Order: sequence, then C-alpha cells, then structure tokens
Amino acid sequence: MSYARILGTGGYLPQKVLTNADLEQMVDTTHEWIHSRTGINQRHIAAEGETTCDLAENAARDALAAAGVPVQDVDLIVVATTTPDQVFPSTACLLQDRLGIHGCPAFDVQAVCAGFVYAVDIANKFITTASASCALVVGAETFSRIIDWRDRATCVLFGDGAGAVVLGASSEPGIHSTHLHADGQYKDLLSVPAGVSTSYRRMLNGEAYTQMQGSEVFKVAVKSLGDVAGEALAANGMSKDEIDWLVPHQANIRIINATARKLGLAMERVVVTVDRHGNTSAASIPLALDEAVRDGRIDRGQHVIMEGFGGGFTWGAVLLTF
Ligand code: ACO
Repeated sequence: MSYARILGTGGYLPQKVLTNADLEQMVDTTHEWIHSRTGINQRHIAAEGETTCDLAENAARDALAAAGVPVQDVDLIVVATTTPDQVFPSTACLLQDRLGIHGCPAFDVQAVCAGFVYAVDIANKFITTASASCALVVGAETFSRIIDWRDRATCVLFGDGAGAVVLGASSEPGIHSTHLHADGQYKDLLSVPAGVSTSYRRMLNGEAYTQMQGSEVFKVAVKSLGDVAGEALAANGMSKDEIDWLVPHQANIRIINATARKLGLAMERVVVTVDRHGNTSAASIPLALDEAVRDGRIDRGQHVIMEGFGGGFTWGAVLLTF
C-alpha cells in the first residue's frame, strides 16, 4: 500500500498590501471594528493584470523547489480555485502549460474555502490507487475580483494569494485520512449569485460579488469545523493530545478560536495567518501550512490536521503526518 506524503510546500502573496487603515479611506469602517470582529489587520491584493494562475505558478515553483522535485516528475495537477483565469481551459491546464508539463491529468476543483482540502483528498486518492506518484496540489485565488469594494460587510474580510504542496507516493504515511462534506441547503448564506448560465451580464460587467449572511455562516462554520476534526481523530483512533498542529482555514480569528476551544487545543498549537492574509479562500490553508513549515514550527514526523469550510456549504479535514 502506498501513501501520499507532503514532499514540499510553497506559497505566494501579491506585493500590494491593503491595511485596515487603507479600508477606512474606502468604506465606512474602522481598524478597531475589523480587528475586533475578525482579527484581520491587512490583506494582499493582486495587481491589475495579475491573475490566479500567476499566483499559482509562483506557489507551485516554490513548492517544487522545496520538495526537490523536478517539474517533469509531476504526473497530476489539481488546482482549487473559485476565481479561475478563464471559464476554460481550467487554471490547472494553464498552470501545466506555464510549467512546461505535458500529458498528465490537470483539472480545477471548486469547493470555495474548502477547495484545498477537497483537492488534497482527490490527489491522495490518485496516489494511493497508484494512478499518480507525484501530485502538485495548489490553492489559488484572486478573491478581490469577486468583492464589491463598496460593501463594508464583505470587503474587509478577503485577500488574494496562493499556496501549494507536492504530494509524493511513500511507503510511510503521509496522509492518514481525509473527510469531505457538503450541504447545498446552505447555498444562499454565502454566494456569488451570478455565473455563466445565470446573470451572465453581471459577470461581463464585473458585478458578480460575494454576498454573505455573516452570523449564520459563523455558527455553521464553528460547528462543522469542530465536528470534522473530531471525525478525523476518531477515524484514526487518536486523541487531541496526539495532534501537534491544527492548520485551519483562515476566515476569522473568532471562528479559529472557537474551533480550537471546541477541540480542546491550545492556541499555541494552531497556525494563524488571518491577521496578515485575511481570508484567501482556497489558498488560506496551504499558505498557513507553508508559513509554519518554513519557520520551523511544523517538523517532520508531527501530526497535523488541516481543515476547511466554505460556500456551498463545503467542509472537510485531512489528518497527516508531516
Ligand atoms: N465596519 C463597520 N461596521 C460594520 C462593518 C464594517 N466593516 N461590517 C458590518 N458592520 C456593521 C453592520 O452594518 C451592523 O450594523 P447595524 O447593527 O447598525 O446594522 C453591525 O456592524 C453588526 O453587523 P453584523 O454582520 O451582525 O456583525 P457580526 O458581529 O456578525 O460580524 C462578521 C460580522 C465579522 C462577518 C461575522 O459575522 C463573522 O465573522 N462571520 C463569519 C463569516 C466569515 O468569516 N466569512 C468569511 C467567508 S466564509 C468562510 O470563509 C468560512
């Protein structure tokens, strides 16, 4: 039996930083309101003309370098994104071309902020069934493009970025288990209610914006994230004390605190980037993972739970040995 193991991580944030003080000049808000409700101080915003694939390419090259894997060894590319460069081809195919890889499967996954967890689950299944041996898994977003920058309820929350991992086949775990869920009954609580076959004109006019019922999202997110982490522990017969690091989706420090509290995990064991990145949707988990790997917090042999929650609703968790 072959397992999938993380061989290397990468991340990329666009140069431009938008602070809460900057937002005070744009909408009726204050640093105090944003910081106290969300924990966010700043976020990165892609430059005009800088696309999701640009961010993804930087993160992917970073992860490949960290893994010490030549680009030609990659035999699967999965990109989690809600903000693809084009309707088609997929961002994964655009990335494949940028990297000069030919022939291997490449496709996008759309599960919003849970997209990276979904993408890792899929790549894990390719590797454990010997359908692939070296997968590039990327979460990349230019979420700023689906934000109404006049809407203070949403524009303060999100940012742009990309994170990536290289997953390779290994005789040692690696990924122990993955747990995915969705419930479409919550579709209206968090959405961009426009798309190719509905309200296409709004899309063409650049008016397809994120809408959210914040307090309802908050409640379901905390319950689902707590439950799915418990599910991952139970599936592996592990207790919370055996978990070295929780790498949660970075939507809001209050959601992260509540989830950690529910799990009984001290915040010293939780990776937090939301203060500097905001919510980068599918990119938030791999960006947080990469930061904690690079600064030496997450080490080989440690147990990590990654968990995500997003529009749909979609949610899920991955329990792994790094
Ligand atoms: N600045 C100042 N005031 C604001 C702002 C702002 N940026 N945004 C909203 N307000 C006002 C509202 O208008 C409202 O005013 P009113 O009472 O006069 O009507 C007041 O603040 C309270 O608004 P609420 O929406 O009830 O504020 P709440 O305490 O729920 O906080 C928040 C909002 C931070 C979005 C919270 O609901 C939350 O954290 N929700 C979780 C959702 C989330 O994080 N989503 C991210 C995407 S989903 C995901 O990735 C999981």
